[in-house]
Amino acid sequence: MIIGIPKEIKDQESRVATVPGAVAELVKAGHEVLIENNAGLNSGITNKDYEDVGAKIVDSAKDVWEKSDIVYKVKEPLKEEYKYLREGLILYTYLHLASNEELTKELVDKKVTGIAYETLKLDNKLPLLAPMSEIAGRMAVQEGARYLTKPEGGRGILLQGVPGVRPAHVVIVGAGTVGAGAVRIAVGMGARVTVLDVNIDALSRLQDIFPDKIETLYSNPINIEDSVKDADLVISTVLIPGRRAPQLIKEDMVKQMKDGSVIVDVAIDQGGSTDITKGHPTSHTDPVFVKHGVIHYAVANIPGAVAMTSTYALSNATTKYVKTIANLGLKNACEKSPEIISAVNTYDGYVTNEGIAEDNGYEYKELNIK
Ligand SMILES: NC(=O)c1ccc[n+]([C@@H]2O[C@H](COP(=O)([O-])OP(=O)(O)OC[C@H]3O[C@@H](n4cnc5c(N)ncnc54)[C@H](O)[C@@H]3O)[C@@H](O)[C@H]2O)c1
Repeated sequence: MIIGIPKEIKDQESRVATVPGAVAELVKAGHEVLIENNAGLNSGITNKDYEDVGAKIVDSAKDVWEKSDIVYKVKEPLKEEYKYLREGLILYTYLHLASNEELTKELVDKKVTGIAYETLKLDNKLPLLAPMSEIAGRMAVQEGARYLTKPEGGRGILLQGVPGVRPAHVVIVGAGTVGAGAVRIAVGMGARVTVLDVNIDALSRLQDIFPDKIETLYSNPINIEDSVKDADLVISTVLIPGRRAPQLIKEDMVKQMKDGSVIVDVAIDQGGSTDITKGHPTSHTDPVFVKHGVIHYAVANIPGAVAMTSTYALSNATTKYVKTIANLGLKNACEKSPEIISAVNTYDGYVTNEGIAEDNGYEYKELNIK
């Protein structure tokens, strides 16, 4: 098959879908790999690095999209890329369709096979979301700590405090992969940390790792409100896989927070998990806005800022499946690795993921590959 890797065009998105080691595997398996000119440069990978392992460098995005059987990406196609979507194309990338009606319609109308990293489920885990979640969780604390400083408009609080002065209170909603990454850094920095989840096992795992270092609370509206109004930094990471994020942090709660506090809504890529950020993603170029005296950070591609780390972590996770699909074709690939079925969101003009169909008002149709 021909596998094409375009340059990412989202604001400050420095990642690229694949690294030379993975390209070498694909070429060895007999596939042609097309890479857009300088697609890897912001991740420290030159055209020559790719050419040395057998890839072909292609001048324009148009050529990559038009000549490829599989387009292998990082982020969802943006409006400027919709013109390249066509019947039969396999698009393998993060899609986040539950919160993107417009893209869902494009993929359905143009009969694209949309395979989304974030819904691929194996043993109750999300292995193609996890590496970026690990990074986003860690970054969320770093970014939150930055915006708590006075020059950035924050309260003027040092996360870890100093002897004789209280540390900041960091409240983390959701104890999954992002939540655990955030806990790790917040505890490491010496903050006072509260974590909420409805999954007691997830809370218990964190309590075992960080005994006496964190407070865990069952996530319900009262516990969320009590924690949020006392917080200096809230990190919201809630996920119901494949669905639009629920808005657990209500506007009333935000109004009760102290001026200059910060909310990092990591779940913005699924539509946003606070009343204020819902439907209002920000970008690395313009990451925050202020409402009710609180700083809201809602960047939907946080790991894009640390591409030297993220590109390799992402490629390590995604290569296996692009290789399986390219080697066997989608039908046989789904038979060999049935978890791929959970990643197929659109196929032949249908939405093949129940949650996404419901969130976007489509009829759900079980995947039935021709
Ligand atoms: N903005 C970014 O750049 C970026 C990067 C990576 C991941 N993400 C997003 O971060 C979110 C979290 O990803 P993850 O990998 O940690 O998912 P995960 O499934 O590992 O964790 C989500 C957690 O939310 C919990 N949850 C569900 N309902 C809840 C409720 N009512 N109250 C509290 N917790 C609840 C779940 O039990 C789970 O533990 C996703 O939306 C993901 O797409 C964003």
